[in-house]
Amino acid sequence: VSGLWADLRDACVALPRRLAAGLFPGGRGDGSAAQRLRRFWLYHLFPFKVTERALAPRATFALGLITLVLFLVLVGTGLLLMLYYVPTPAGAYASMLDLESVVFLGSFVRRLHRFAGHAMVVTVGLHLVRVFAMAAYRGRELNWTLGLGLLLLVLGLAFTGYLLPWDQTSFWAVRVVTAMTDHLPFGGAWLQRLALGGSEVSGATLVRFYALHVALLPAAAITLVALHLWRIRKDGGLARPASADGPTVPAWPHLTLRVGVVALLVVCAMLLLASLVAAPLGPPADVLRPSNPEKAPWYFLGIQEMVSYSARVGGVLFPLVLGLGLWLLPFVDREEAGVGAWFGQRAERLRMAGVALVGLVAGVALVVWYLEPAGAAWVAAQSPALQELTNPAAAMLGLGGLLLGFFGWRGGSVRAGLRTALLVWLVALVLFTLVGLCRGPDWVFFWPWEGWPLAF
Ligand code: HEM
Repeated sequence: VSGLWADLRDACVALPRRLAAGLFPGGRGDGSAAQRLRRFWLYHLFPFKVTERALAPRATFALGLITLVLFLVLVGTGLLLMLYYVPTPAGAYASMLDLESVVFLGSFVRRLHRFAGHAMVVTVGLHLVRVFAMAAYRGRELNWTLGLGLLLLVLGLAFTGYLLPWDQTSFWAVRVVTAMTDHLPFGGAWLQRLALGGSEVSGATLVRFYALHVALLPAAAITLVALHLWRIRKDGGLARPASADGPTVPAWPHLTLRVGVVALLVVCAMLLLASLVAAPLGPPADVLRPSNPEKAPWYFLGIQEMVSYSARVGGVLFPLVLGLGLWLLPFVDREEAGVGAWFGQRAERLRMAGVALVGLVAGVALVVWYLEPAGAAWVAAQSPALQELTNPAAAMLGLGGLLLGFFGWRGGSVRAGLRTALLVWLVALVLFTLVGLCRGPDWVFFWPWEGWPLAF
């Protein structure tokens, strides 16, 4: 933190000088106004030169950049939607109907906003996995922490936006997610009241979610994104193996051109999606008619599925262990080798692929066993304490713990131990999300071909 303050202070002191150098004659290069302006703006984002290696698509798959472009699309379309949206129970659903049928291009802008929001949750998750897989968090503790903050903000933005259409799906989804705070050991009731503005989802909740969605969370996200991008430069660019500096090329035009192409492709993909697929809108929210099933948005479905096994393990322990494990990763992994390469050496790649496979097979087997009447009956016959430990979420948590002990302690590599454990937990979260998607009325499991629609 003291480093961050020192950097901020230096940046503030240097700003007037950089402004002057960028806007007035006398700088380096050919001195043309265009070049000076270009350099002034790009100076904060890109270095003058980048390694050719960093430009290769597989270095990052541009996932951070794609996330950033989606964020900008969301800000632009969100500002347009704000012109029509009325954050009251009577006005919210009516604004959706207006957007869908009366407002010029209203439906299209709504689709763009909605799909870009969902896409951003996916790409931010993939970006995290990329950084995790390349051990690119090494030596970037602050930026990794800022990134985790951004992940929470992206989820918060997606979730607060989910309520705004005020239809049956959104209303009951918010109800079920806020009800999950009941399981927190302390502060749960307080958090719930804070989010809801009372004890139930109501007009007060809508105003709070709206304020969070259009002002507080975007302001926080813009601040963190700016710090995040600036830290990449302060950390010396993208993480790479010590031996792999290689040839460099000027950022202009090599990097800027690629950034432009990626941005264009992302925008085109969103435009295409919005022209082909309609954004769902259910019947208006009805407090007296609960939807069955009451489902969280897809990015929280994994947790809801685990809560259906055990509230304490699925709703508290699992998210806590996963979050803490992710955050601690750059602080406890002190190994230099393998940074900036997909899962480091060949042996590490094999180990991670094997662990992912074992995690997947174990997870599927556990879920199938738990869904079978015999498995469910066996669990139901156990004492309450044992029931907490004999469910798929607890078992996957335990499997991760075993891997942590085996590779970390016995194998002597903290990185291998923590990364194998985290990988198994991430695989489990994805698997439980898929199972949650297949849940129908009364939380009964339906295979996709059995006709119950998968709701997002
Ligand atoms: C709004 C969300 C985010 C945005 C817009 C964003 C943007 C970016 C961009 C543009 C880069 C440059 C490399 C690339 O394109 O992949 C980057 C790098 C990085 N990001 Fe993010 N990011 C976000 C969230 C996260 C999250 C959730 C994490 C992890 C917890 C994270 C950790 C990092 C780290 C450690 C780097 C440096 C990677 C390296 O040196 O190779 N970011 N981010």
